[in-house]
Amino acid sequence: MGNLSVKPVKVGICGLGTVGGGTFNVLQRNAEEIARRAGRGITVAQIAMRSANPQCDITGIPTTNDVFEVACNPDIEIVIELIGGYTLAKELVLKAIDNGKHVVTANKALIAVHGNEIFARAREKGVIVAFEAAVAGGIPVIKAIREGLAANRINWLAGIINGTGNFILTEMREKGRAFEDVLKEAQALGYAEADPTFDVEGIDAAHKLTILASIAFGIPLQFDKAYTEGITRLTTADVNYAEALGYRIKHLGVARRTEAGIELRVHPTLIPADRLIANVNGVMNAVMVNGDAVGSTLYYGAGAGMEPTASAVVADLVDVVRALTTDPTNRVPHLAFQPDALSDHPILPIEQCESAYYLRIQAKDHPGVLAQVASILSERGINIESIMQKEAEEQDGLVPMILVTHRVVEARIIEAIAAMEALDGVTSPVIRLRVEQLN
Ligand code: HSE
Repeated sequence: MGNLSVKPVKVGICGLGTVGGGTFNVLQRNAEEIARRAGRGITVAQIAMRSANPQCDITGIPTTNDVFEVACNPDIEIVIELIGGYTLAKELVLKAIDNGKHVVTANKALIAVHGNEIFARAREKGVIVAFEAAVAGGIPVIKAIREGLAANRINWLAGIINGTGNFILTEMREKGRAFEDVLKEAQALGYAEADPTFDVEGIDAAHKLTILASIAFGIPLQFDKAYTEGITRLTTADVNYAEALGYRIKHLGVARRTEAGIELRVHPTLIPADRLIANVNGVMNAVMVNGDAVGSTLYYGAGAGMEPTASAVVADLVDVVRALTTDPTNRVPHLAFQPDALSDHPILPIEQCESAYYLRIQAKDHPGVLAQVASILSERGINIESIMQKEAEEQDGLVPMILVTHRVVEARIIEAIAAMEALDGVTSPVIRLRVEQLN
């Protein structure tokens, strides 16, 4: 057992909302077990908060409404940043680092957008910035990729990494509930971001994907190059047609290494219904990681919520306490690869990414339209995997034609869609969704 007679480590919590409250409660409830793991006790010496959290009994703990008091408190060795957002959180983290304090954060937006700068400053000062809770809530996927899979050349990863979006898609599919209604429930449960468009437009997932791609491939964080497409325009019709073809639609983040560069994209995606990840429902998250030695691995768990996220924050805290005595140059690097060994392999624009496609074409019920569509695809070397034509819909007499293609570079599908939309028999924009087999 570690030397528990050593003085406890003093930490400061900034933000006592959903994650801050969960972190405080887990630290109190499991104090003894955590100390036995860390080798030292962990004491919350100060909390910065805007208002009290009724779920936390903070009697006797000094509080403030100024986060910088925590960052400048000479007794505190580790600052836990749980206020979220980009601006104040960045100032707080940089101030804590400048004061020689280690930082634990759950802030994916902060790391994805400002991480390169923050890590550089942390290296100068010899302090740790830990961010396991930033990706996939309670799932220790950063540790798994950074440490557990360190032997591998990672080929690709794909994940359901936004709990709110997955909760919405699940409730819509299983219970036919309305989008807005489910979103409100996700907000009440503390899953959704302060600005829920981050959840439903894929921005939150792109923050997390950016972080995962960096530690998987050893590249700097490049959130601005991630492609994002949300779930707000998904229709029940496409969800049902996908099911009929043997697929589930999930909001997936995909990062894939190719010779030309790295694909970094978040979008609704058809996944074969029998894949484990296609059956990840509700607020649960899952990340598949494919490495050349290990093959495909899957990490599953609660992707948001009070104590699941606290589980990752406290695990980071234990790591930092264990590493307090380690020479800074021998610690696990922030982005998994040594900072002077990051690669400049480019992130590919979406037009150069490769995927299979689901296309829904609303066509007039005339002979020859299907043949024209098929020849547009064949002229561009695009193979059709399956095709389904439904009855004409009563109101407008239009026939939905649903096609799934083999894999092709996106630029060619964009061209093919433009050609289809120029046909006389095609009356409205073609619906295009990406398909990933994940095998
Ligand atoms: N809004 C996020 C989600 C919280 O729903 O997944 C966890 O990062």
